[in-house]
Amino acid sequence: MMPVQKEEKFTLPRRMQGLQPTLIRQFFERALPDSINFGLGEPDLPTPQFMRDEAARVARDEQNGYTSHPGLPALRDKIAEQYPHLNLPRTGVVVTCGSQEAMTDAFMCVVDEGDEVLLPNPSLPAYEACTRIAQGTPVYYKMPADRDFEFDISNFKSQITEKTKAAVVISPSNPTGKILTEQNLRDIAEALDGTGIWLISDEIYSDLYFGERPHSASEYYDRTIIVSGLSKSLSMTGWRLGWAASKDPDIMQAIQVLHGFTTVCAAAIVQKASLLAWNDDAEAAKQRAREVYAKRGAFLVDLFEKEMGLHATSPEGAFYTMLDVRSLGDDIEVAEKCLQNRVVTVPGVAFGDEAKGFLRISFCNTEEKMAEGVKRMKEAIGA
Ligand SMILES: Cc1ncc(COP(=O)(O)O)c(C=O)c1O
Repeated sequence: MMPVQKEEKFTLPRRMQGLQPTLIRQFFERALPDSINFGLGEPDLPTPQFMRDEAARVARDEQNGYTSHPGLPALRDKIAEQYPHLNLPRTGVVVTCGSQEAMTDAFMCVVDEGDEVLLPNPSLPAYEACTRIAQGTPVYYKMPADRDFEFDISNFKSQITEKTKAAVVISPSNPTGKILTEQNLRDIAEALDGTGIWLISDEIYSDLYFGERPHSASEYYDRTIIVSGLSKSLSMTGWRLGWAASKDPDIMQAIQVLHGFTTVCAAAIVQKASLLAWNDDAEAAKQRAREVYAKRGAFLVDLFEKEMGLHATSPEGAFYTMLDVRSLGDDIEVAEKCLQNRVVTVPGVAFGDEAKGFLRISFCNTEEKMAEGVKRMKEAIGA
């Protein structure tokens, strides 16, 4: 027998090296008692009562074993119906434990060692983490701060190389609250046409829009994998119900297999209750959420202008705005001062260097709390 070599020190596999908790979490976890939370992107509206009642009924009255790996057939059919332009078969949908799992699955099934992945700058740090876990290389396209973080097709195109395997788009955006226009999506589709590049479209905020309903990238580009779920539109972050959907049968088969080995299936109780997520009551709850967040976003942007003389981007969807604090110094220092005065924000740099000098502010708060938050920020940073 070969002598076993003793390893003195454990070294993480390369795919895990350098992965750190995000600055978003690091700031949130240091919050002082009684802080106002402009930090986490977690809806504060209650989960609709009928969803809670249904989950409670299912837990009490039914036997809840495993479902098939890709989810309850009836739920997959309901999700497929959300994308009529794709005419998806049931196999075009895999139900996952939140959209985060769908996103990680999509990256793992598309990206190979050395592949480049185009990511928006600024964007969610999870995209870079997923790229690294899949042993790909993140490459950033700029959403220019000086143009209120709007999409710039020439910058997007300039980052495409022979190694580009996938690109990520998000609309409405975390962290900017911006929506990609139909023309933006057509331009992206044209730039990718014939390249074989995969488009991963993060549509977790697609039900939270304040003007016209956003278009899906999948309307214009076939090689799109949609990543979405119920967390944000129905205040169900802790329920962990998401999905991946695509027209491409091979990628959906791969995602289904990986999903089976990572989580087996999303919780049966949650899947059964989620069959109600598109009924009239659910659509009314989504509409209410749109109205509430639109009003709060306008209120907060206005308050920053009036009380602090600071510009914040006008949110078009989701529940975020980017507050420009470049005149006040480094965003990490500004966020730190706010934290010490019991207001949690996120320094823009957490989402990429294009957002340096900004704070991401989430408006999952009542107007009263937001007014208190702005007052504390003013005291802390003296704008
Ligand atoms: C842009 C974006 N995508 C995906 C997620 C993950 O959401 P979930 O896994 O709850 O569906 C989040 C959560 O904050 C997000 O902001």
